[in-house]
Order: sequence, then C-alpha cells, then structure tokens
Amino acid sequence: MTPVPREAALFRQRQYPLPRETGLVATPETVVHNTFRPANTMRKILVTSALPYANGPIHLGHLVEHIQTDIWVRFQKLRGHECIYVCADDAHGTPIMLKAQQEGTTPEALICRIGREHREDFSGFLIGFDNYYSTHSEENRHYANLIYQRLKEAGHIARRTITQAYDPEAGMFLPDRFIKGECPRCGAADQYGDSCEVCGATYAPTELKHAVSVISGAKPVERETEHYFFKLGNFSKMLKKWVHGGHLQPEIRNKLDEWFQAGLQDWDISRDAPYWGFEIPDAPGKYFYVWLDAPVGYMASFKNYCDRTGIRFDDYWGEGSTTELYHFIGKDIAYFHTLFWPAMLEGAGFRKPSAVWCHGFLTVNGQKMSKSRNTFIRARTYLDHLNPEYLRYYFAAKLGSGVDDIDLSLTDFMARVNSDLVGKLVNIASRCAGFIGKRFKGRLADRLPDEDLYASFVRSGEEIASLYEKREYGHAMREIMALADVANQYIDERKPWVAIKNPERLDQVQEVCTQGLNLFRVLVTYIKPVLPRLALEAEQFLDDGEWSWESIRNPLTGRKINPFKPLLTRVEQSAIDAILEDAGQNISKKASPVTVGGESIADTIPFDDFAKLDLRIARIVKAEQVAGADKLLRLTLDLGGESRNVFAGIKSAYTPEQLEGRLTVMVSNLAPRKMRFGVSEGMVLAAGQGGKELFLLSPDEGAEPGMRVK
Ligand code: MSP
Ligand code: ZN
Repeated sequence: MTPVPREAALFRQRQYPLPRETGLVATPETVVHNTFRPANTMRKILVTSALPYANGPIHLGHLVEHIQTDIWVRFQKLRGHECIYVCADDAHGTPIMLKAQQEGTTPEALICRIGREHREDFSGFLIGFDNYYSTHSEENRHYANLIYQRLKEAGHIARRTITQAYDPEAGMFLPDRFIKGECPRCGAADQYGDSCEVCGATYAPTELKHAVSVISGAKPVERETEHYFFKLGNFSKMLKKWVHGGHLQPEIRNKLDEWFQAGLQDWDISRDAPYWGFEIPDAPGKYFYVWLDAPVGYMASFKNYCDRTGIRFDDYWGEGSTTELYHFIGKDIAYFHTLFWPAMLEGAGFRKPSAVWCHGFLTVNGQKMSKSRNTFIRARTYLDHLNPEYLRYYFAAKLGSGVDDIDLSLTDFMARVNSDLVGKLVNIASRCAGFIGKRFKGRLADRLPDEDLYASFVRSGEEIASLYEKREYGHAMREIMALADVANQYIDERKPWVAIKNPERLDQVQEVCTQGLNLFRVLVTYIKPVLPRLALEAEQFLDDGEWSWESIRNPLTGRKINPFKPLLTRVEQSAIDAILEDAGQNISKKASPVTVGGESIADTIPFDDFAKLDLRIARIVKAEQVAGADKLLRLTLDLGGESRNVFAGIKSAYTPEQLEGRLTVMVSNLAPRKMRFGVSEGMVLAAGQGGKELFLLSPDEGAEPGMRVK
C-alpha cells in the first residue's frame, strides 16, 4: 500500500510560492466580507492569529501576523464594534517532546516557560489579546475529543494500518522531518525525509538513500502501525462551495483549486506513543496529531475567555451563528485552515469561519531570515533596543490584503520611521505645542481658523476606515501621511514662528497652532490602531479622554492642554547595529556535538547559556584540610571584598600552603550546594585528569579579585 503523504504533503505546501504580484482583486466574493459597514451597526467579531509553537522564541516573522491582526482588532474596537481577539501557544507535538528531553525537563515545564516568554514578547509589542491560552488545556482536550467523537459517529473517521519509519534505538516512529539522507533524485546529502532543498524533489522517506534518524543516528526500519484518518473527501462538495463563497483571498482560492484537482486525500490524525499530546479517547497508545488539536485551540482559548466574562460560547461557534469569525494566518498553513478546519467544523456541527486571511512571509534585507546572516531577529532582541511602535508602523506601511512576502529592509525601516513618524506626524504637534504652552498658558483658541480643512480631514476618515477594514494598511498609512503633509504645509504657510514676534498677530498664532493640534488629533486617531501607545500619550497631552472614530467629529477649542513631551525620537543607526549584533549572538543554534582534538565532548550551547555563567577572579586567602575527606580542601576565597567558602576536590595535587595567596578563577553564581562537610558556595576551575595531574587555573599578573572573566 502506498503510504499516505502526511507531513510530506503538508510540508511541501510550505514550499509552494504563492503567486507574488497579485494584489487584491475585487471580485463579487471578496466584496462580501470586505464591505465596509457603517459604525452604527454594532458587529460581533471573533478574531484569531495562528498559534505559535511552544518550542522557540517569538521572532519578527511571527510579529508580522500578530501586528497585522492586532491592528485590525484595534481598528474594529475603535469603530465601536465588539471584537474579541484570542490566541494561544501550540503546545503539542514531537519537536516539543524532544526539546524538553534535550533540556532535561518535562514538556509541561517547557511549555510553561515558553508560554510565559511568548506572552511577555507579545505584550512588549502591544499586542492586545483578550485571551492568550495554551492548547495543552482541559478546554482544548474537551473540544478536541468532542469534535473527534462527532466526526466518528458521523462516519468520517477511518482506521487502517500503514508502514512508517521507526527508530529502533529511540523506540519511536519518526516524522518525516526527523529522517535525513541523500536525495534519491540528485544525490544531495543531508536532506529531509519529505523533500530535497537542492533539487526540489518530493518523495517518501523510504526512498531516501543512506537514511538516518536525526534523533539517534540509527538507520530507520519500516514498521506497521494502525492509524486514524479523517475522511476529507466526504466534504469535497461543501469545501468546493465554501472555497468559492467569498471566504478566501483570490490567490488562496486558486491554490485550493489546484489541490481539488489533485484530489482530497484522507488526513492522518493519529500518532503513536511516545508522543506529546492528547491521547485519543478510545485508542490507548494513540494520540491526536498536533495539527488536529491546534486549531481547536482557537475554540479552547475562546471558551476560557467566555468562562471569565460570561459571553456565550455558542453565539460565536454554534452552527448558524451570525457573529463573524476571522483567522489570520501565514500562507504556509493555509491547507490546514481552508480544508481540514472547515471540514472538521462542518462535520462536528460547528460554524465555519467567515474568512481566513493569509499573509506572506517576512524577509530581512531581501532574504529569508537566517541565523548565519544574523537576520533571525527575536522579538526580545528588537525590544532591547527599539520602540515597538516603529516596527508596528513599518509593517503597517508594508502590509496589504494579499499574500506577497514583505521585506524588512533595515535602511528603509530607519528612513521610513524617521521621515513619516518623526518628520511628519509628530512634527505637527511639536511645532504647535511650544507656542500654546509657553505663550498662551496651555490654552487652545476658541475657534478654528479653517473649519473646512478640519472637516475635510474628518471626511477622509471613511476612506481610511475602509482601507483598514480591507487590510490595506499600506494604503491607509499613505493616506494618513498625505494628510500629515497637508497639515505641515498649512503651518509652513502661516509661519507662526515669524508671526509670534508681532504682538498684533498673537491671536493668529494661537489659532493656527490650535488648528495644527486639531489636525494632529485627527491623524493620531486614524493611526491609533497602529500606534496605540503614541495615541495614549497624545490623548494625555491634549487632556482629552479616549479617542475614537466618533470623537473627532468636534474639534477641541477654548480649553487647556498639558505641557508637551516629545512623543517619539529618531531611530539611530547604532540601535540597528546593536540589534544585528545581538541577533548574531542570541541565536540558539541547534545543538550539535562539539569535538575537541577529535574527542566528542558536548552539545553546543546557545550563547545565552554561556552568558549565564558568572566567572570571577578569586584569591585563595585560606586553604585547609577537611577532617574525614580524602579529596577535598576547604578554600576561603576573596572575591574583591566578598568572601566565599568552597570545597574543592584538589587535595591530591596541592597542599594548602601551595594554594594560599594564589589567584584563581571561580564560578561565582553556582547555586550553593550542601555537602557532608558544609555548604559549598561556588567552584574553582582546574584542568587535567585528576589525581596528581590537576592544574588549577590562574590569571596573568595584574588580575584582581572580583574581576569578571569573559
Ligand atoms: N503552530 C502552527 C500554527 C497552528 S494554528 C492553529 C504554526 N506555528 S509557527 O510558530 O510555525 O507559526 C505561527 C505563525 O507565524 C504562522 O501563521 C506562520 O505563517 C507565521 N510565521 C512564521 N514565520 C514567519 C515569517 N518569517 N514571516 C511571516 N509569518 C511567519 O505554524
Ligand atoms: Zn535533490
């Protein structure tokens, strides 16, 4: 029997480049969900971003998606709609299981730590989730089981025996990505079990030459095992209709037509123990494949939110629900969201998404993010050096409704942020605020000198809103910046800095600056979905509560505002350099054995791990015998004013007298260890076999106790 392509097929999808130059084509279908509705009919909307895997850090690629989603959600809220944004960590699957093993921890502990880091990173980028949860939760187990049970009862689950690669040493079946070997077509070495990165061939893992398990290095053998399948073909009529029903972008719809032509295959939804996930209820030793319970995680996170807030779950997920449901995802995972997921929902009696929106991939300086080029930039690395709103703006300026990849060119990033945000937008306020503050006691004029201009800014709001609605953020940003140009020009022409010198023209200065600040207020409201923090500061500066699309109808006049503080500073080249430098050091390279002099000694560790060691120069002020110990000496170490008690196993090579007064190197931040003879508060470093052959490390002349060793 031919093995059913599982990961093989799915990972291949990742490599299909989708048509590049296709923008949004307004077809009748796309109009259905993109139509802009007036703000006075309150919509109820549930929005999700894809669930990041809990086995690695959030990077700037993930942020394209979360920033895109967050802007859309904030926009809807600003328009007065009820819009709920949920997400979670995708916490199951083989890679997480193996990573936990590698780190000598449990999967539970690993996903807990990574979950915390993910939340911190997202909050650093001002992503305003209403709920962030985990797929390893009781709610998720409940809905995954429920959906499975319903699919089974309706006859959509099949069971059959397949042959799969098995690692006899690790005692587990191997996913395609955990097998490597030579490409059967071009002979390239070191290729994954599903496809060749060199010649693009796709094949079954059994076809690889000289295949080895990535986990143990053993040669995989073939083994039979019973698997559970979801009969996707049962939904082919529904899917064809749904795909053409206005729920997808045209580029994705075209891709799906190709998949339909290739035929819808059964989907393998089970994995054998050992696996990290949910055990299938009636099948001991069989687990749901991570991709079965991952999208169910959207429901689980929402259910968890409902239980906190009293919102009714069925209003959003029940069959025939009239609320809106949108999934924002990357184009690499379209297959799961536009075929399996709607079919699972349909088969289990839930509503299907109103739309699934795909975005393209992030490249940095024109190339795939790469660890070797230092362009694999973690969210945290960016946040260590720059304001998150710069990146939010830059992505917004580059994002459209299509699936084109977007490039972060760091030179362009700096130029764009400095010229648009600092040079145009914030400039309007900084040019006007000083005069109002210093010359008019912080008081705005009683009237606007150019009400028509103000009204035209307000009128532009509808066009800008419809662009946000359609996810044409780049276009929206251009509109906003064009208005900022108009506002700056208005001020330029009236030259308040000249007029202020003429006592007869003071009223005019106050009015012009009042006009400028009001135009600024309108523009900040428009850009508030992108720059929520800047907007908050601007609201405080103008002492004006929370701004919404509605609140700008009337200008602010005849009232006091607060002193102006600079809202944004320029991006400096030094910050960009620092990010790239850190990206080069922070990368957590995949562990691979390190050999020294031909001897394999250890796995590589990420720089971060090394940086955790605090090595210091210490002076041995006292060395003593320890009664009853045949290897240990008790050392009293001076760390430059601080004293430490350390038991060191160096008695066989040194007498106390040889040691006293000497400088050495110690690990100073080792957790204290209780030993039979007392507590040891660190370690000294020595080389050699042990016994007589031991060499205590000492620094060159001139080193002082307490110095950090780097
Ligand atoms: N866990 C799955 C999603 C399950 S959703 C039910 C997954 N996780 S992921 O961490 O690999 O990716 C999460 C999201 O980030 C996906 O939508 C993916 O497309 C997106 N991106 C990951 N790298 C990206 C870029 N370099 N650029 C843009 N988006 C990228 O897939
Ligand atoms: Zn090849």
